[in-house]
Amino acid sequence: MEEVLVKCERLDHFGRGIGYVLGKIIFVPDLLPNEEALVKIILDKKKYMVGEVVQLVKKSNYRIEPKCPYENCGCALKSLDYLKTLEFKKDKIIDILKRYGEIEGVVKEIVFSRNIYAYRNKITLKVKDGKIGYFKNGTNDLIEINRCEIASKKSNEIIKVLKNSDLSNVREIVIKDFGEVMLIIKGDMNIEELKPLVNSIYINDRLVYGKKFLIAKLGEFKFYVSKDSFFQVNMDVALKLYNKVLEYLDGGKSVLDLYCGTGTISLFLSKYFDEVTGTEINEEAVKCAFLNKDLNNISNVRFICGDVSKEIHHLKADNIVVDPPRSGLTNEGINDILKISPERFVYVSCDPMTLARDLKLFKEKYKVKEVTLFDMFPWTYHVESVCLLIRK
Ligand SMILES: C[S@@+](CC[C@H](N)C(=O)[O-])C[C@H]1O[C@@H](n2cnc3c(N)ncnc32)[C@H](O)[C@@H]1O
Repeated sequence: MEEVLVKCERLDHFGRGIGYVLGKIIFVPDLLPNEEALVKIILDKKKYMVGEVVQLVKKSNYRIEPKCPYENCGCALKSLDYLKTLEFKKDKIIDILKRYGEIEGVVKEIVFSRNIYAYRNKITLKVKDGKIGYFKNGTNDLIEINRCEIASKKSNEIIKVLKNSDLSNVREIVIKDFGEVMLIIKGDMNIEELKPLVNSIYINDRLVYGKKFLIAKLGEFKFYVSKDSFFQVNMDVALKLYNKVLEYLDGGKSVLDLYCGTGTISLFLSKYFDEVTGTEINEEAVKCAFLNKDLNNISNVRFICGDVSKEIHHLKADNIVVDPPRSGLTNEGINDILKISPERFVYVSCDPMTLARDLKLFKEKYKVKEVTLFDMFPWTYHVESVCLLIRK
């Protein structure tokens, strides 16, 4: 395909360079602001193009040599100076809140990650034709890897062993590393060499070796982690984020922790509220939440297993924290929160677009007081937002 010279004007929300060629916008992964490159056009649509850098002609002062050699993996910002990646994420959230939520002047700071490499406690590896790696963004094309710089040290030791194993009948391997390690394998393989490295192995949802649950330590609490339950991927940043939720809620009589996962936020809140109610749809996560409550000798927390949009009709509290999946809140959920009308409402979000959409619907009755951002996923374009809303 045709090659063109592109000057990068800025980054889009996915960390891709933006330039213009013949009046049409072009998105180029791994091209930084003010850089120029010879770019191969790989997609030419009516309104936009996508390109691939063939040769860098002018280099940014903020370009760094990435530790990871693989192109098109999930770390879209890995060639940019870390402090600049934080600036990018803050500007991106400011822009999204303004454009889609009509909210301005509320983003306070972005909290950095102490570990910018080896920070992930969970990775999902894909296997194709016996080779292991990640799928190229949005495709089923495998990028074969030898290691992953954001995965834990133990995960990389396991990858080394996997690369010398017969994976011809395997489709996917999840590694969870919380000090104790779990492997979740889809397909079939010989696991003898893996056993000394891990505490638990599941094959096709069946426990075939070791413990059913892992135990993760976060702050003063311990948490059971199961095969399918959600846990924040970066422990250092998760702790900082939960402390911000505590600071924003400021204690009180009762609080709802909606979308509570294994009950992490609920347990953190239990010291500062008389009553805490967590609600979560994943049965296994709720089982862990009950176990976590007992493991930490906590009595003022209860958990409900169910869909927040349905359960919330029966609930009441002075304060609410929500931490929904990427899809954000449902309209019913928003209406019910408005009916409950808590004094303080904290919204934890991993998707700024749905956050902006939802915050706009609270605007009439709530003031967005402050938003703090957390770099839970260094080198990727993702960022966690914690927003404090106060009833008007
Ligand atoms: C981003 S996680 C938050 C978990 C928890 N707050 C934490 O920090 O570990 C979102 C959680 O929402 C749960 N979830 C998704 N849809 C739900 C729904 N409709 N009702 C209740 N929980 C839901 C998921 O299973 C997941 O555990």
